[in-house]
Parts: sequence; C-alpha cells; structure tokens
Amino acid sequence: MDAFTYRDGQLLAEQIPVTELAARHGTPLYLYSRNALLERYRAFDSALAPVDHLVCFAVKANSNLAVLQTLAQAGAGFDIVSGGELQRVLRAGGSAGKVVFSGVGKTEAEMREALDAGIYCFNVESESELRRLDRVAQSLGRRAPIALRVNPDVDPKTHPYISTGLKKNKFGVDFATAESLYREAAAMPGIEILGVASHIGSQLLDISPLLESLDKVLGLIDRLQAAGIRLRHIDVGGGLGVRYKDEVAPLPSDWAAALLPRLAGRGLRVLTEPGRAIAANAGLLVTRVEAIKDSGEKHFAVIDAAMNDLIRPTLYQAWMDIVPVTPRDGATTEYDLVGPVCETGDWLGKDRALAIEEGDLLAVRGAGAYGFVMASNYNTRGRAAEVMVDGGRAHVVRARETIDDLLRGENLL
Ligand code: LLP
Repeated sequence: MDAFTYRDGQLLAEQIPVTELAARHGTPLYLYSRNALLERYRAFDSALAPVDHLVCFAVKANSNLAVLQTLAQAGAGFDIVSGGELQRVLRAGGSAGKVVFSGVGKTEAEMREALDAGIYCFNVESESELRRLDRVAQSLGRRAPIALRVNPDVDPKTHPYISTGLKKNKFGVDFATAESLYREAAAMPGIEILGVASHIGSQLLDISPLLESLDKVLGLIDRLQAAGIRLRHIDVGGGLGVRYKDEVAPLPSDWAAALLPRLAGRGLRVLTEPGRAIAANAGLLVTRVEAIKDSGEKHFAVIDAAMNDLIRPTLYQAWMDIVPVTPRDGATTEYDLVGPVCETGDWLGKDRALAIEEGDLLAVRGAGAYGFVMASNYNTRGRAAEVMVDGGRAHVVRARETIDDLLRGENLL
C-alpha cells in the first residue's frame, strides 16, 4: 500500500488530509502510517514463513516508541546498537528474548544491561569484544549468547557511507579470524555460541551481493561444523533498498525466494535486520514554504524543515521526493529547497520543478527511516513533532521540542 496518496487534490496520510494534521500539529512534522509499517513488517515475516525465523527491526532506522510498539505487537524482534535502544525496545513492550545487539563498540555497562535483560543474541564484532563479553558474563554468573559478525568482503554497490561489508570497513571479523575465534569461543565459560551474522550495507537494490555473502557464510558454517562447532542460526542482516525516486527495489518475497533454497536442509533459524525497507516509505516529513527568493541565478524556496530535521540530502546527497501537499495548477519553476540553518549545505532538494507559493505545504517522502532519528538541535532548533496515523485517527507520538526541552541540563556559571 502507499499510505500517502492524493484524494480530491489533497495529500492524505492514510485517511486524514495532511493539511489538517499540519494545522493541528504545526510544521516541520513527521507523519508515520501505522498500517504501512505493519504491512512492510509482515512482508518480511511472511516471506520467511517457510522456516523458523525472526525479523529484527533495525531500531536505528526509526526508534520512536510507538513505532517499536506497533512492530512489537505484530511479533517483531529488534536489532539494537546501544543500551539506549535496548531501553526503548523494553519500554515499547518488545521482548528482550527477541533482541539482537549489533555494533562495534559495546561498553561493559551495555553488556551487563543486555545480559540482565536476557537478550537473545550479541552480534560480536571483534576478538576484544568476545573476551570482554566472556569476562562480563562470568562476573554475572551467566553465559552470553553470541553470533560472530563476519565481514564477507563483498561490494554491496551502494553509497560508500552505508556500505559495511568490505574489508576496509570497520565492521565484523574476516573469515580466517572468525574460524579461530569460534574455536576460542567454544572454550569460553561465559560464552554460548548461537549463530553467525553479517550485514553488508544499506539501500541495496541488487540482491546478488547478499547472495554472494550468504554463500561465503554458508561455507564458513560447513567448515565450523567439520570442526565440531554447530551453529543454530544465521543472521543475514538488513539492507534491502527502497524506492526514493525511480529505483526498483527488491521485494522481501523475491529476496526470500533467492535466499531460502540455499538454506534448505540445514535446520538453521533465519534472522534478518531490516530497517529502511520497513520504515522509510511509512513516513513523511511535512514542511511549509516560508519564503520564496531569487538570487538572479537560482530560485530558492526557504522551507521550515532543515538539515537538522532531515540530514540525508546533506550527508549522502540523497535524493528524496518532495511533493506539494495541495498541488496547484499552472507553470512550475525550478527551486532549490533550502532550510533556515546557517549552512550552505542546508538543503533538502535541488532543482525541483514545483508550482508553489509562500505558505504552501510540501511533503518529503521516504522520511520514515533515518529521518527523525538523525535529527539534531543545531541552531537551537527544537526537533519536530512526530504523529502516527492509524486509519482516521492521529496520535502524537512525540511532542515538538520546546525551548525548555532544549535547555534542560544546561547551567549558567
Ligand atoms: N543491521 C546492521 C548491523 C546495520 O548496521 C544496519 C544499518 C541495519 C541492520 C539496517 O539496515 P537497513 O535495512 O536499514 O538498510 N543513515 C543511513 C543508513 C545507515 C545504515 C546503517 N546500518 C541512511 O540514511 O541512508
């Protein structure tokens, strides 16, 4: 489903006109569709239905409590990268027993917290982390369930900032190291070996690098088995891309159809960690045109959303679709859509043909993943409100930040 469609010349969020939501909650405003989130989660869940599996939503993509709650209620697990994300999952009603903990820099405190909560698995990224986790678990009289995150050294063919599975990236351990680490781990009293994990990058539009990676990991599993180390699960990571412009993104069903035959007969539980593919197109960022100005060379529309609200265009030169909420007839002009932040790099879109006037509302599509979560308070701008729409009902799932919120914790001398 597309949760954001036009009816009678107006953009809707599920059944509610976006103009109405903007009037009620102000702009900039993040809008999420509860049903779009559920539909996308279920697409993964049913694609893996033939096997024992767990779809662990990558919390980093959108960590709003109501988003996590929606997915937890649908049965999702979660992929976390910090103690903070673990707290979010627990407070949203997610179960620790469905949590995998990724990340290259887990602290001892985070390890303890996760062990106390009883998470399902630590995705261990280095020898140093493995030893530390063994020590922390023993000090608690526990065994930490682990998978080693291997770095399959395949090129995911995506933006260099979001590719993670190349040797030159900081993530995971190489295969030779993995083999010896598994042997070490098998002898550690504080460690219980559960599986193997990999994640090669994000916004993947071609699944062949994922399959190449999978084949390499299966080879490792076979070598380990020959050495007497049996793994119970394989975590294939996240990374499936979405359509921002005209990309043809692989469907979870196509991805699973390529994946599952390779896993047949192995009895492995399958984990996956999708973030963007579940959340991106379940969200919009709504913004108002504050001013239109001309430099003689360029036309600018100054909007009230900025790089602090949505940093993907600035950081990755990401192209995000920006559409009028109430389209006007008439000639279009090519605008650079720029925010109020004092940086030349503060833009959400360039050379966009739009028929707009001051006061009009625009919507940035695909903003449900890596949108609000990457927002900052730069220029002492409060972060936007977040609203979740469910059919004809709208819930404020995070209030707009006030100046008191921004200054909390600061002191004069
Ligand atoms: N698992 C691990 C270990 C990851 O590092 C990531 C993303 C995911 C899962 C989820 O990947 P997804 O399914 O969302 O592609 N801020 C960037 C994306 C950074 C992704 C980092 N890792 C962006 O806005 O494009």
